[in-house]
Amino acid sequence: MTVEKLNQMGFFKPSPTEQHAIDFLKELSFNTIKSIGISTAGYFEGFWAERGKQVIATTLDKKGMEYTKNLLSETPNLTFRLEDVTQSMPENDCTYDVLYSRLCLHYISDSELKKALAECYRVLKPDGHFIVVVKSLNDWTAQTAGAYYEPETGYTYTPSITRYSKLSRRLHSIQSITEALQTAHFKISHSNELTETIYEDFERTTLEMPDATVIEVYATK
Ligand SMILES: C[S@@+](CC[C@H](N)C(=O)[O-])C[C@H]1O[C@@H](n2cnc3c(N)ncnc32)[C@H](O)[C@@H]1O
Repeated sequence: MTVEKLNQMGFFKPSPTEQHAIDFLKELSFNTIKSIGISTAGYFEGFWAERGKQVIATTLDKKGMEYTKNLLSETPNLTFRLEDVTQSMPENDCTYDVLYSRLCLHYISDSELKKALAECYRVLKPDGHFIVVVKSLNDWTAQTAGAYYEPETGYTYTPSITRYSKLSRRLHSIQSITEALQTAHFKISHSNELTETIYEDFERTTLEMPDATVIEVYATK
């Protein structure tokens, strides 16, 4: 089944930041994308794979990866791989035209992010584009009972949200995520903070309330 057909059938949930990234890339010429932290998403990845782009999608989430791999089993040009973004990447330098990481890099600490961004820079081609979406410090979760910020890691802990498998997120300000990218030598071309609907479960059936506050940053090498 095509990605558009799956979309019409409701398998993908609309996301402004995902759509912004698609619209941005429509104006560009490119061949290869690495998507870091795909889980049960797949609309972005399938959209481009169906249009002839070579797409590699990685995640730590085996169950989520199998779900999406199964959903997109008929999509050409799309490869899935279990991979930890905090570790060295297996690719050669300058492999990809585009890197995309939506709602993934806020799971790692500041020191892990530094290493991950250095690897992202290494595997991106010169003038390649990096699209990053992370949760914001203005997200409602930072205001929940007992929430606290840990300066050593950058993590915000949210002990009262018991359904989270991990009680910490590296919630960012526009300044903290753009500075991290700039430290890794990326040039920032766009940054924006907005709210958007996300889901509690990996099948994206239960809406998380209220909407999340997220930051999108586009950068180039
Ligand atoms: C909330 S999901 C986001 C999924 C998708 N990118 C989207 O736009 O909906 C978070 C993803 O980040 C992945 N993740 C978290 N920590 C990671 C790490 N250290 N390395 C690779 N992926 C990681 C999870 O496995 C999951 O795939």
